[in-house]
Amino acid sequence: MNSPALAPKSPYGGGTPDSFVRLHGVSKRFQVAGHSRAILADLDLDIRRKEFIAILGESGCGKSTLLRLLCGLDSAYEGQILVDGVAPRIGNDEAGIVFQDPRLFPWLTVEQNIALGLARFSLARSEVQQRVSEHVALVGLAGFERALPHQLSGGMAQRVALARAIVARPAFLLLDEPFSALDALTRSQMHDQLLRIRAAADLTMLLVTHDVEEAVYLADRVVVMAPRPGPLRAAVDIDLAYPRNRADTAFQHERERLHALLGHGVNSFS
Ligand SMILES: Nc1ncnc2c1ncn2[C@@H]1O[C@H](COP(=O)(O)OP(=O)(O)O)[C@@H](O)[C@H]1O
Ligand SMILES: [Mg+2]
Repeated sequence: MNSPALAPKSPYGGGTPDSFVRLHGVSKRFQVAGHSRAILADLDLDIRRKEFIAILGESGCGKSTLLRLLCGLDSAYEGQILVDGVAPRIGNDEAGIVFQDPRLFPWLTVEQNIALGLARFSLARSEVQQRVSEHVALVGLAGFERALPHQLSGGMAQRVALARAIVARPAFLLLDEPFSALDALTRSQMHDQLLRIRAAADLTMLLVTHDVEEAVYLADRVVVMAPRPGPLRAAVDIDLAYPRNRADTAFQHERERLHALLGHGVNSFS
């Protein structure tokens, strides 16, 4: 059972099952060398509770910018963003985030790094220990609790970052190209791990990626971003049962459909 301090699910009750996350008319501009430059223009998107959504777009189209808005790291935008009925803000207990690089503290052990995800709650030491052990096991790092980040492979370090993001059991997990620095084999292992975590936890997930195959393998729905500044180009439901097989004709069909929406040649790979 979640303790009350760790179960901030629906504190405001504003979200609905069909719109756990809502973006309505969202635009974002940056000031660059005295000029205002539009990065996101008039985005509309609703994400259902427990949906796994991938946002696919070329490098520089504004994916990380969008993710920063969604987790409250940047609140200078126009339009409306609601996560479970409230505007995102830093320290929001509803959201966990994993970046492209693991961002671990090099002088802290694996378990100490994961425990940082609980630092804002006043929990008994024994409860912290128990939750950390649970999440060490969930990401397959049992036996490495006392290891330091430099003793880990890239994939292991990213699993620590994932455990830190979910140890407080957020309702919403945001992933910013978390696997793009990993080799292909590790990346596909991480995909399966993420799907196992999804099955074990009540998570709504948003993954931003430029990798078409990754999006098709993982997501219930893939949203394609146009080059900036533009509205979202398309939302494609991936109606394939899990676990998905990358070699299936249906899988390849979805992949080609998304490449075409991105404006790639049919046989090109991103
Ligand atoms: N703080 C900032 N100030 C000015 N321009 C920025 C800032 N952050 C991002 N940008 C610009 O916004 C665009 C989108 O960036 P980003 O969201 O990081 O793209 P993506 O994650 O899709 O690769 C880029 O052209 C980038 O240079
Ligand atoms: Mg980015």
